[in-house]
Amino acid sequence: MIDHIPVLKKECIENLNIKNGGVYVDCTAGRGGHLQAILEAGKELFVIGIDKDPFNAKYLEELFDGYSNNRSTVKIVNSDYKSLPDILGFYDIKSCDGILMDLGFSSIHVDDASRGFSFSKNGPLDMRYDTKQDLTAEDVVNDIDVKELARIINEYGEERNYKRIAYAIDKKRIETRIRTTGELCDVIYSVLGQKRYGMETDPATKTFQALRIYVNSELDSLKEGLDNAIKLLKPNGRLCVISFHSLEDRIVKKLIKQGLNPCVCPKGLAQCLCGRTPYLRSVVKNFVGPSEEETKLNPRARSAKLRVAEKL
Ligand SMILES: C[S@@+](CC[C@H](N)C(=O)[O-])C[C@H]1O[C@@H](n2cnc3c(N)ncnc32)[C@H](O)[C@@H]1O
Repeated sequence: MIDHIPVLKKECIENLNIKNGGVYVDCTAGRGGHLQAILEAGKELFVIGIDKDPFNAKYLEELFDGYSNNRSTVKIVNSDYKSLPDILGFYDIKSCDGILMDLGFSSIHVDDASRGFSFSKNGPLDMRYDTKQDLTAEDVVNDIDVKELARIINEYGEERNYKRIAYAIDKKRIETRIRTTGELCDVIYSVLGQKRYGMETDPATKTFQALRIYVNSELDSLKEGLDNAIKLLKPNGRLCVISFHSLEDRIVKKLIKQGLNPCVCPKGLAQCLCGRTPYLRSVVKNFVGPSEEETKLNPRARSAKLRVAEKL
């Protein structure tokens, strides 16, 4: 049973332009919704599903165990997608026809309180996708210098009240270690107040986003992963990336733009002297967003932006 509703599923499949016999990589296979749709869209495919979370990877292995429909092959890899060159190398694959990234967390991360991602369910301050990693949100909240903590909340949460929140956390942690999502929420609410009628998001949303991004080095993985993905696409191969907030989307947009026009010559020069030529072609104008119907059915889709590029 698929318990995470895949966002922009139809749009991803259309834009991946699946060809029979092709090699496709789902870099963030999660609960398998997009992966299943890729498999249903072609024959004799070789599909790699990657997830950094060992629980999701195990779930996917069981879900696709013995998969043999349409003579396609599925391989599940528990890893960070930034290691795409090594993952493809392991299967002796030099390049692929399509790569999908559906960024962020899956439903189990917020539904399972013990993973510590949710401000609405009390649990340990964890927030790791890779549960073998040492650094947890509890370490960041309690052990990092207050100025650095403020920077993290500002930079990765785009939270206007970052200083007040960081100093409130600092005051609290001198008294006692902050160990749970509930305890952290209490500190944030003591600064910003609780969610009130008419507010679209919880006041803890941005601080939680910041901690999650920092704990999992999400933006570094994205930069490295995108760079590798673009290099590993075959000519006419497609890259599809779904982002959910402006920090992710800015990185995706910038890297695609760079591929569309990598020239670094000063503006106004009669001809290009740097010799850098485009290596990507644009497929959709700007991005594809969810329909009203999808947003109604799945509110998480509200902020999704699908950007697509094709390798030249
Ligand atoms: C939005 S969910 C993907 C859902 C999936 N498309 C589906 O249909 O079920 C994102 C997934 O990416 C995984 N993830 C996050 N960062 C990752 C990374 N750097 N490398 C690999 N997987 C990552 C998370 O564990 C999560 O399961």
